[in-house]
Amino acid sequence: CGIVGYIGPKNAQNILVEGLRKLEYRGYDSAGIAVIQQGKLAVERTKGPLAALEEKLVTHPLTGMIGMGHTRWATHGKPSDENSHPHMDAEHQFAVVHNGIIENYIELKEELLAKGYSFTSETDTEVIAQLLKDMYDGDLVSTVRKVIQRLEGAYALAITSEREPDKLVAVRLASPLIIGLGKEENFIASDIPAILEHTRDVYVLEDGEMAILTPDTVELSTLDGKTIQKEILHVTWDAVTAEKGGYEHFMLKEIHEQPKAIRDTLAGRIKEGLIDLTQDLSFTEADLKKFDRVHFIACGTAYHAGLIGKSVIERLVRIPVEVDVASEYRYRDPIITPSTLVVVVSQSGETADTLAALRAAKKAGAKTLGITNVVGSSVSREADEVLMTWAGPEIAVASTKAYTSQLVAIYLLGLYMARILGTRTEEVLKKSTEALIQLSEQVEGQLIEAKTDAIQSLAKEIAKHEDLFFIGRGLDYAVVMEGSLKLKEISYIHSEAYAAGELKHGTLALIEEGIPVIALATQHAVIEKTISNIIEVKARGAHVLGFGLEGDRELKKSVDRVITIPDTLPLFTPILSVIPLQLLAYYTSVARGINVDKPRNLAKSVTVE
Ligand code: G6P
Repeated sequence: CGIVGYIGPKNAQNILVEGLRKLEYRGYDSAGIAVIQQGKLAVERTKGPLAALEEKLVTHPLTGMIGMGHTRWATHGKPSDENSHPHMDAEHQFAVVHNGIIENYIELKEELLAKGYSFTSETDTEVIAQLLKDMYDGDLVSTVRKVIQRLEGAYALAITSEREPDKLVAVRLASPLIIGLGKEENFIASDIPAILEHTRDVYVLEDGEMAILTPDTVELSTLDGKTIQKEILHVTWDAVTAEKGGYEHFMLKEIHEQPKAIRDTLAGRIKEGLIDLTQDLSFTEADLKKFDRVHFIACGTAYHAGLIGKSVIERLVRIPVEVDVASEYRYRDPIITPSTLVVVVSQSGETADTLAALRAAKKAGAKTLGITNVVGSSVSREADEVLMTWAGPEIAVASTKAYTSQLVAIYLLGLYMARILGTRTEEVLKKSTEALIQLSEQVEGQLIEAKTDAIQSLAKEIAKHEDLFFIGRGLDYAVVMEGSLKLKEISYIHSEAYAAGELKHGTLALIEEGIPVIALATQHAVIEKTISNIIEVKARGAHVLGFGLEGDRELKKSVDRVITIPDTLPLFTPILSVIPLQLLAYYTSVARGINVDKPRNLAKSVTVE
């Protein structure tokens, strides 16, 4: 998750550890460094906080002027000493630190195992170190280029070898990496804060670029060896801004990380145009056939993802689904049998209510499946089956990229079950998969400045109110529940999310002149009905902000202002429609001068029941 590298005249150990400390805010579960010490590669690494690594370094200090460090956020393999980076080949000649995912690592590992290599970790990274050893041709840089050709995935790498102890190699493919330029010293880092203390002059590597560092030189090239020239970027950010990657708040940064989180969560799970979760789940067709009901259990935002899960599973697989907030589940005496599939959704994997529900479901004999963002978390360890979301660490209390990644995981699960159980034709499944792949780009399109500016101006209006309403039908109803929660959490404005058709049975009494009503209308089958509900509130003086599909003229005519959402399959719209609602909450919070990332009374992960 965090990378730092050093080559120069100073002792590397302290520079590496201090660099890693500057990246601690990003979250991690283990840390390590590698240094070339008197011509030999030496590594210290450990599970746990940096302090644990420092403790090891007191008794085993590493002395040398070339090195790399890493803080790990577990992906392949639980947090442990063995799985911590740096990773080396069996003869300890090549060391690698790595962010991102190598999708074809199992295939590569099998190939190396067949050649007689043995592995000490469960990581995809160790495969790279072993490949470097296996393919070494007497020139580290050319070997790195050959190894890269064999890797599929999105990653950033830093590499060093005692065979050529005069250089560091950095490679970027879809995971951030920068090169810091010093005086007789140079640096590698995944993020600017790691090196800000030493230099403000950096090269920002683009996808498909690599750098070769010596103390005095930095050579930039493409992966296939074409030399490139780059402008030096002079960083003017202060340390606090640098932590947020230049964004004003973590929440905004995380909103903008959604296209990547969606892509990463899909990565490696699509084969020949169809969803394939055989690497993740051990369900057989017979197992899946057995399930006669599904329960989604979660808290907060994850619960709202579960609400979407109900429609996804019911529509695609035709198995009845119930959704519960975890704190209610156990106490309502739910019907749980061995043919129940209980899906718990939890970003942190540590929410006490969710864990208690998971344990109760297991005890009652259900099959359990955890959807979580943290490898090695309690949910990932205790659930029978695990489907990871690959959103990366989420720091803002208000969840954004975790939610959209949970939706992606739920779509994957639904489409996979439909495929195995044959409840959808291959043609339909392929079309759905194509639409799924498009989503990350569609989200990107919603994050361009012109779009966010329009929402910012709406937010300024909203910020003046103390009460407002969200309405929607079907999946839109589930999404406005999330939009309303987001707004409440970080703007402290009271809002209610209502099923649009239910308004007239109560809430309509609260609609008065000038009250904002946010109406989400993306579901083709019920748009007309939602429009009638919009007309009801407008007739009572509401100021209606419509969020609807591009090209929907009817909606445009009936609302006061309109924000458009790109079209996709109705089932997938929540991923696109939640984006402007997240932005609306964010900008409203900013307009009200509230601590966006840490709203009062709330915690990121609640570990008490
Ligand atoms: C807390 C957070 C929410 C989050 C919920 C569930 O209440 O403030 O943002 O949605 O916990 O968290 P989990 O980690 O289980 O997804």
